[in-house]
Amino acid sequence: MKIIRAKDYNDMSRKAANIISAQVILKPESVLGLATGSSPIGIYEQLIKWYHKGDVDFGACTTFNLDEYRGLTPDHDQSYHYFMHKNFFDAVNVPDERINLPDGAQLDAERECHRYDAAIRAAGGIDLQLLGMGLNGHIGFNEPDEYFSKGTHCVNLTESTIEANKRFFASADDVPRQAYTMGVQTIMLARRIVLVVSGENKAKTVREAFFGPVTPRVPASILQLHTDVSIVADEAALSLCT
Ligand code: F6R
Repeated sequence: MKIIRAKDYNDMSRKAANIISAQVILKPESVLGLATGSSPIGIYEQLIKWYHKGDVDFGACTTFNLDEYRGLTPDHDQSYHYFMHKNFFDAVNVPDERINLPDGAQLDAERECHRYDAAIRAAGGIDLQLLGMGLNGHIGFNEPDEYFSKGTHCVNLTESTIEANKRFFASADDVPRQAYTMGVQTIMLARRIVLVVSGENKAKTVREAFFGPVTPRVPASILQLHTDVSIVADEAALSLCT
């Protein structure tokens, strides 16, 4: 496991964007695993700038996002489809037919999770998976649990997540109760993993996940066992690790 130290969020974003663009330059037909949330937004902004300068070209890439709310259509402004188009896809040239996210509008969970895992396998697996990490060490929607999850599956959102998300919806009743997410095993099968983490509020989780024991109670801790993982973390996130 490599820990790459960054000064702050912008530096973290630039460093991670450099790793992703090097991946795409070396292998233009890369299969990229992508994430939503606040952590990767700076990376997407940087990659868009380099794309417009002609430094990186996503025309031969395929992408698979980590997760999507079950029950939201792609045009819903809180869906991860919408987020990804707004923050990345609309500004670069990944071909539409090679952009993949779990289909939140498909309510048959078993069928959708099976389809998604099969699509990842058919694409040849993920070359580089980008991850953020939740305050409790979650990756994707894989929350602390008794065991590590395997393939793509449907999860029930916790009450605290529903509560935290309700401000984005007309009412608490409109907040999705479930999500589709790649499993921990799906993530671990990626050939290369880049996790970005920023901010003092995540410092304790960084210490537990990457300097503590491997346990499903801190899902990101499993990354210690991956052979090619880079943690790009800013000074604040590393403040409890000496
Ligand atoms: C996003 C995802 C989540 C986030 C995590 C951190 O697709 O799967 O695991 O990476 O919740 O979120 P931020 O970056 O907003 O702190």
